[in-house]
Amino acid sequence: MEIALRPVHDSDLPVFYRQMNDPESLRMAAFTPKDPADRDAFDAHWQRIRASSAVVRAILADGDVVGSASVYGEPGEREVTYWVDRSHWGRGIATAALRALLAEVPERPLYARAADDNTGSRRVLEKCGFRVTARATGYAQARGAEIDEVVLVLEG
Ligand SMILES: CC(C)(COP(=O)(O)OP(=O)(O)OC[C@H]1O[C@@H](n2cnc3c(N)ncnc32)[C@H](O)[C@@H]1OP(=O)(O)O)[C@@H](O)C(=O)NCCC(=O)NCCS
Repeated sequence: MEIALRPVHDSDLPVFYRQMNDPESLRMAAFTPKDPADRDAFDAHWQRIRASSAVVRAILADGDVVGSASVYGEPGEREVTYWVDRSHWGRGIATAALRALLAEVPERPLYARAADDNTGSRRVLEKCGFRVTARATGYAQARGAEIDEVVLVLEG
């Protein structure tokens, strides 16, 4: 399987919208928008990040759009985030996509946050060199509760 990144096309947005409304994925990610089904809010969010200094990429597996991966935020506080279609989990796609994104974006440090119990995401980050440096609690919309989260850093 060949994993590649490319800039986001308008035609990717309906695919991302579907991927990002999967209940199991939302529960796992936990820190999600208030109403992920709100298509106008979804479109406004993507318009905003695509127009910003963020590096926003579609993940392709053998040419098919299977998710997204981005680096966003202010200089010195840039964070990575990613999402893979549930039907493709467990095949190394997020790890390969994050590696490709880190090769494309040279700035360090880079940060990431994950729900403490998001074992898959934490594993992806650790395989790519991120280390847990802090713990916090925050309100997780997808769980309707305050939960623990970890902050990870990739140093230069
Ligand atoms: C997290 C996510 C991106 C992982 O994508 P993926 O393509 O399945 O990830 P990979 O296959 O590259 O790696 C997953 C790793 O986590 C491990 N893993 C996955 N679920 C696990 C679980 N419940 N318990 C333990 N390990 C788990 C896998 O075994 C693998 O590690 P390994 O290579 O050492 O075996 C995907 O599940 C997803 O999109 N989830 C919803 C959105 C989300 O949580 N995004 C991140 C927000 S911080």
